[in-house]
Amino acid sequence: MKKFPEDFLWGAALSGPQTEGYALKEGKSASTWDYWFKENPEKFNEGQGPEVTSNLYERYSEDCKLMKAIGLNSIRTSIQWTRLLPDGKIVNADAVAFYRDYFEKMKENGVKPIINLFHFDMPMWLMEKGGWETRESVDAFSFYARTAFECFGDLVEDWTTFNEPMVHIECGYLQGFHYPAIVDLKKAVQVGYHTLMAHVKAVQEFRKILPKGSIGIILNVSPSYSRSESVADLKAKAAADLLNIKSFLDPVALGKMNQELIALLKEHDLLPDALPEDQKAIAENTVDFIGLNYYQPSRVQAPEMAAYPAKALEDFYQPYDWAEKKINPYRGWEIYPEAIYDVAMMMKNDYNNLPWYVSENGMGIADEERFIDDSGMIQDDYRIDFMKDHLSYLHQGIEEGSNCFGYHAWTFIDCWSWLNGYRNRYGFYRVDLENDYKRSVKKSGLWYKKLSEQNGYEA
Ligand code: NOJ
Repeated sequence: MKKFPEDFLWGAALSGPQTEGYALKEGKSASTWDYWFKENPEKFNEGQGPEVTSNLYERYSEDCKLMKAIGLNSIRTSIQWTRLLPDGKIVNADAVAFYRDYFEKMKENGVKPIINLFHFDMPMWLMEKGGWETRESVDAFSFYARTAFECFGDLVEDWTTFNEPMVHIECGYLQGFHYPAIVDLKKAVQVGYHTLMAHVKAVQEFRKILPKGSIGIILNVSPSYSRSESVADLKAKAAADLLNIKSFLDPVALGKMNQELIALLKEHDLLPDALPEDQKAIAENTVDFIGLNYYQPSRVQAPEMAAYPAKALEDFYQPYDWAEKKINPYRGWEIYPEAIYDVAMMMKNDYNNLPWYVSENGMGIADEERFIDDSGMIQDDYRIDFMKDHLSYLHQGIEEGSNCFGYHAWTFIDCWSWLNGYRNRYGFYRVDLENDYKRSVKKSGLWYKKLSEQNGYEA
């Protein structure tokens, strides 16, 4: 039996924009996603947009019971900025009532809420002023954070500021996947810096308003593995880890910017505009814990031809197709559970063994209906195997002293996944879009219940 530490969090992660639906109702204003879908529905898989998603806004009472039914003792979801503060200033009473009741229902069902503030959902009114490109966004976010702490701080003890900040930076400003779909490395760095300062200022507010609570941030980690041990490949690997992991993890966890990263940015004329007082604020506002989302590693090699100064991430490192990689046949992502152990050791050795948890891990499957058996249940043994493999490496890391306090699967119920709509399903519950959004448990949900009850699994 592989047993996990006492009080281990067994839960799942979700987000407001991906589950709630009710996109522009009851006072909610448009986020960039609502806007983009309205303007360009053809960009979204099967024209599926954010209006309904999993319809949790109407079904949360039942959904909280379903959380309990599969043994979830914690859930991380997000508040939507555009619901709580539709114009950025005045609190929406309907939003307060909805979220308060939702969090209360979670607690009534023994589910601890961990509440996140930003999950890729920039308000359109702020985007029109330049969004994260402007310093104004830092103050706007810190006002929103303060408002959320005041409205829900009596119900929620554990908070996070951002989910995967690297994703809105990369997808929005380097790869063209998310609105505003700009490709500009210099802007991307500035957007990243303002996001970091928005996080820091939110932590500063938190310490004043909820001194007894704890606050963290959710970062995506794709540890990189280099093609070879050549100097050039190792340099590419180092750059990938600096840009993708240490850029946020160092300041939020250690209270200082990574100096190698600063040197790299300077060399390429990419340093962002900063205020003189920022360094002090970063030093004084480190987090209590870190959430790390892990899905797949990055395999990197030195660029063959690189522009200097760099114009794109590819000028620092390039993807490398490792011949031995194991692939998720239903989605195409690499499966490499070993990386969870490396992440656990990184936290122990390089980040003062700060408390951390796996805040997302899971397997997305296209056309999952094909795995429905005669009883009507999705037999997702592939998902159970995937999680078990990852948990076994996590277990090893914990045995060796890494301070990990939980595991959250992505995700509780099938949810809307940005441009992919409902293509890839990740949930423990299937959501039947054709049949009034009916939820039905998958085999993995039943397995997860046992895992949580036993606080471990038969190896
Ligand atoms: C990470 C993100 O937090 C979430 O929004 C997304 O849907 C999942 N990964 C799956 O790709």
